[in-house]
Amino acid sequence: MFDTMTTTKAVGAVCGSLLVFMLVGWAGTSLYHVGASEHGQAEGEAPAQAYKIDTGEEATGEAEAETIDVAALLAAGDAAAGEAVFKKCGSCHKLDGNDAVGPHLNGVVGRNHGSVAGFGYSEAMAAKAAEPWTPEALFAFLENPKQAIPGTKMAFNGLPKPEDRANLIAYLATKQ
Ligand code: HEC
Repeated sequence: MFDTMTTTKAVGAVCGSLLVFMLVGWAGTSLYHVGASEHGQAEGEAPAQAYKIDTGEEATGEAEAETIDVAALLAAGDAAAGEAVFKKCGSCHKLDGNDAVGPHLNGVVGRNHGSVAGFGYSEAMAAKAAEPWTPEALFAFLENPKQAIPGTKMAFNGLPKPEDRANLIAYLATKQ
Protein backbone atom coordinates (compact mmCIF):
# COMPACT_ATOMS: atom_id res chain seq x y z
CA MET A 1 0.00 0.00 0.00
CA PHE A 2 2.69 2.39 1.10
CA ASP A 3 4.63 1.66 -2.05
CA THR A 4 1.58 2.24 -4.18
CA MET A 5 0.91 5.52 -2.43
CA THR A 6 4.48 6.61 -2.85
CA THR A 7 4.42 5.69 -6.48
CA THR A 8 1.11 7.46 -6.99
CA LYS A 9 2.45 10.57 -5.30
CA ALA A 10 5.62 10.48 -7.33
CA VAL A 11 3.73 10.07 -10.58
CA GLY A 12 1.33 12.79 -9.51
CA ALA A 13 4.19 15.12 -8.74
CA VAL A 14 5.83 14.47 -12.08
CA CYS A 15 2.57 15.00 -13.96
CA GLY A 16 1.89 18.13 -11.97
CA SER A 17 5.32 19.51 -12.74
CA LEU A 18 4.92 18.70 -16.41
CA LEU A 19 1.55 20.43 -16.50
CA VAL A 20 2.94 23.52 -14.80
CA PHE A 21 5.93 23.43 -17.09
CA MET A 22 3.69 23.22 -20.17
CA LEU A 23 1.42 25.97 -18.92
CA VAL A 24 4.37 28.22 -18.19
CA GLY A 25 5.82 27.45 -21.57
CA TRP A 26 2.52 28.13 -23.28
CA ALA A 27 2.02 31.34 -21.34
CA GLY A 28 5.56 32.36 -22.20
CA THR A 29 4.99 31.73 -25.89
CA SER A 30 1.72 33.64 -25.89
CA LEU A 31 3.24 36.53 -24.03
CA TYR A 32 6.19 36.53 -26.34
CA HIS A 33 3.93 36.66 -29.40
CA VAL A 34 1.70 39.31 -27.89
CA GLY A 35 4.76 41.30 -26.89
CA ALA A 36 6.34 41.00 -30.30
CA SER A 37 3.15 41.99 -32.05
CA GLU A 38 2.56 44.98 -29.75
CA HIS A 39 6.11 46.04 -30.19
CA GLY A 40 5.75 45.65 -33.92
CA GLN A 41 2.52 47.56 -34.07
CA ALA A 42 4.31 50.42 -32.38
CA GLU A 43 6.95 50.30 -35.08
CA GLY A 44 4.38 49.49 -37.70
CA GLU A 45 6.61 46.95 -39.31
CA ALA A 46 7.50 44.00 -37.11
CA PRO A 47 4.24 41.94 -37.36
CA ALA A 48 4.33 41.91 -41.11
CA GLN A 49 8.00 41.13 -41.06
CA ALA A 50 7.59 38.31 -38.54
CA TYR A 51 4.89 36.80 -40.70
CA LYS A 52 6.85 37.13 -43.89
CA ILE A 53 9.93 35.55 -42.42
CA ASP A 54 7.94 32.50 -41.31
CA THR A 55 6.22 32.04 -44.66
CA GLY A 56 9.34 32.77 -46.65
CA GLU A 57 11.39 30.18 -44.84
CA GLU A 58 8.73 27.54 -45.30
CA ALA A 59 8.21 28.33 -48.94
CA THR A 60 11.91 28.36 -49.70
CA GLY A 61 12.48 25.13 -47.83
CA GLU A 62 9.67 23.38 -49.65
CA ALA A 63 10.68 24.78 -53.00
CA GLU A 64 14.24 23.59 -52.56
CA ALA A 65 13.17 20.16 -51.40
CA GLU A 66 10.72 19.85 -54.31
CA THR A 67 13.27 20.93 -56.90
CA ILE A 68 15.75 18.31 -55.78
CA ASP A 69 13.08 15.63 -55.56
CA VAL A 70 11.50 16.47 -58.89
CA ALA A 71 14.70 16.33 -60.89
CA ALA A 72 15.83 13.08 -59.31
CA LEU A 73 12.38 11.50 -59.36
CA LEU A 74 11.61 12.44 -62.93
CA ALA A 75 14.97 11.12 -64.04
CA ALA A 76 14.11 7.83 -62.32
CA GLY A 77 10.56 7.74 -63.74
CA ASP A 78 9.56 4.26 -64.85
CA ALA A 79 7.15 4.29 -67.80
CA ALA A 80 6.08 0.67 -67.27
CA ALA A 81 5.06 1.43 -63.69
CA GLY A 82 3.39 4.61 -64.92
CA GLU A 83 1.12 2.65 -67.23
CA ALA A 84 -0.50 1.09 -64.16
CA VAL A 85 -0.92 4.50 -62.54
CA PHE A 86 -2.65 5.79 -65.66
CA LYS A 87 -5.58 3.50 -64.88
CA LYS A 88 -6.66 6.22 -62.46
CA CYS A 89 -6.87 8.67 -65.37
CA GLY A 90 -8.32 6.36 -67.99
CA SER A 91 -11.93 6.93 -66.97
CA CYS A 92 -11.63 10.51 -68.20
CA HIS A 93 -8.59 10.67 -70.47
CA LYS A 94 -7.68 8.78 -73.63
CA LEU A 95 -4.33 8.40 -75.29
CA ASP A 96 -5.54 7.91 -78.87
CA GLY A 97 -6.22 11.52 -79.75
CA ASN A 98 -9.89 11.42 -78.78
CA ASP A 99 -11.24 13.67 -76.06
CA ALA A 100 -13.55 12.32 -73.37
CA VAL A 101 -14.48 13.86 -70.01
CA GLY A 102 -10.96 15.28 -70.17
CA PRO A 103 -8.81 16.18 -73.17
CA HIS A 104 -6.66 13.48 -74.80
CA LEU A 105 -3.34 13.12 -73.05
CA ASN A 106 -1.16 11.71 -75.80
CA GLY A 107 1.33 14.48 -76.55
CA VAL A 108 0.50 16.34 -73.35
CA VAL A 109 4.12 16.54 -72.22
CA GLY A 110 5.37 19.73 -73.82
CA ARG A 111 1.90 20.79 -75.03
CA ASN A 112 0.56 24.08 -73.76
CA HIS A 113 -2.07 24.12 -71.02
CA GLY A 114 -5.63 24.08 -72.31
CA SER A 115 -4.59 23.89 -75.94
CA VAL A 116 -6.61 20.99 -77.38
CA ALA A 117 -8.83 22.62 -79.98
CA GLY A 118 -12.51 22.00 -79.43
CA PHE A 119 -12.19 20.84 -75.83
CA GLY A 120 -14.20 22.91 -73.36
CA TYR A 121 -11.61 23.83 -70.77
CA SER A 122 -12.29 25.70 -67.57
CA GLU A 123 -11.40 29.38 -67.57
CA ALA A 124 -8.64 28.59 -65.08
CA MET A 125 -7.01 26.13 -67.47
CA ALA A 126 -7.55 28.27 -70.55
CA ALA A 127 -5.93 31.21 -68.76
CA LYS A 128 -2.65 29.27 -68.67
CA ALA A 129 -2.60 28.60 -72.40
CA ALA A 130 0.81 30.26 -72.76
CA GLU A 131 2.46 27.80 -70.37
CA PRO A 132 3.76 24.43 -71.54
CA TRP A 133 3.10 21.21 -69.61
CA THR A 134 6.68 20.58 -68.61
CA PRO A 135 7.31 17.43 -66.56
CA GLU A 136 7.70 19.73 -63.55
CA ALA A 137 4.34 21.43 -64.22
CA LEU A 138 2.63 18.05 -64.55
CA PHE A 139 4.34 16.85 -61.39
CA ALA A 140 2.96 19.80 -59.42
CA PHE A 141 -0.52 19.67 -61.03
CA LEU A 142 -1.02 15.95 -60.50
CA GLU A 143 -0.19 16.13 -56.81
CA ASN A 144 -3.29 18.20 -56.16
CA PRO A 145 -4.99 19.57 -59.32
CA LYS A 146 -7.40 21.90 -57.58
CA GLN A 147 -4.66 23.40 -55.49
CA ALA A 148 -2.21 23.78 -58.37
CA ILE A 149 -4.80 25.33 -60.68
CA PRO A 150 -7.69 26.68 -58.59
CA GLY A 151 -10.85 26.57 -60.69
CA THR A 152 -9.84 23.57 -62.79
CA LYS A 153 -12.74 21.29 -63.60
CA MET A 154 -10.62 18.17 -63.40
CA ALA A 155 -12.39 16.28 -60.62
CA PHE A 156 -9.44 14.30 -59.36
CA ASN A 157 -7.93 14.47 -55.89
CA GLY A 158 -4.39 13.96 -57.02
CA LEU A 159 -1.59 11.45 -56.70
CA PRO A 160 0.07 12.00 -53.33
CA LYS A 161 3.01 9.68 -54.00
CA PRO A 162 5.82 11.49 -55.86
CA GLU A 163 6.99 8.19 -57.37
CA ASP A 164 3.56 7.57 -58.90
CA ARG A 165 3.62 11.00 -60.52
CA ALA A 166 7.16 10.58 -61.83
CA ASN A 167 6.37 7.16 -63.28
CA LEU A 168 3.14 8.40 -64.83
CA ILE A 169 4.86 11.38 -66.45
CA ALA A 170 7.52 9.04 -67.86
CA TYR A 171 4.68 6.95 -69.32
CA LEU A 172 2.87 9.99 -70.77
CA ALA A 173 6.12 11.13 -72.38
CA THR A 174 6.15 7.89 -74.40
CA LYS A 175 2.67 8.67 -75.78
CA GLN A 176 2.97 11.20 -78.56
C1 HEC B 1 -12.94 12.64 -63.33
C2 HEC B 1 -12.29 12.86 -64.60
C3 HEC B 1 -10.80 13.04 -64.62
C4 HEC B 1 -9.83 12.22 -64.09
C5 HEC B 1 -10.00 10.96 -63.27
C6 HEC B 1 -8.56 12.80 -64.47
N1 HEC B 1 -8.75 13.93 -65.21
FE1 HEC B 1 -7.33 15.11 -66.00
N2 HEC B 1 -8.72 16.38 -66.68
C7 HEC B 1 -10.09 16.22 -66.56
C8 HEC B 1 -10.77 17.39 -67.07
C9 HEC B 1 -12.27 17.62 -67.11
C10 HEC B 1 -9.74 18.26 -67.51
C11 HEC B 1 -9.93 19.67 -68.05
C12 HEC B 1 -9.59 20.58 -66.87
C13 HEC B 1 -9.93 22.04 -67.06
O1 HEC B 1 -10.31 22.47 -68.15
O2 HEC B 1 -9.79 22.76 -66.05
C14 HEC B 1 -8.49 17.60 -67.27
C15 HEC B 1 -7.26 18.12 -67.61
C16 HEC B 1 -6.07 17.46 -67.47
C17 HEC B 1 -4.79 17.97 -67.92
C18 HEC B 1 -4.56 19.25 -68.68
C19 HEC B 1 -4.60 18.91 -70.14
C20 HEC B 1 -4.51 20.07 -71.09
O3 HEC B 1 -4.75 19.87 -72.28
O4 HEC B 1 -4.18 21.18 -70.64
C21 HEC B 1 -3.87 17.04 -67.61
C22 HEC B 1 -2.38 17.09 -67.87
C23 HEC B 1 -4.55 15.96 -66.94
N3 HEC B 1 -5.88 16.25 -66.87
C24 HEC B 1 -3.95 14.82 -66.49
C25 HEC B 1 -4.61 13.83 -65.78
C26 HEC B 1 -3.95 12.66 -65.26
C27 HEC B 1 -2.50 12.30 -65.50
C28 HEC B 1 -4.89 11.95 -64.58
C29 HEC B 1 -4.68 10.67 -63.77
C30 HEC B 1 -3.74 10.73 -62.72
C31 HEC B 1 -6.13 12.67 -64.69
N4 HEC B 1 -5.91 13.79 -65.42
C32 HEC B 1 -7.33 12.25 -64.15
C33 HEC B 1 -10.73 15.13 -66.01
C34 HEC B 1 -10.10 14.11 -65.32
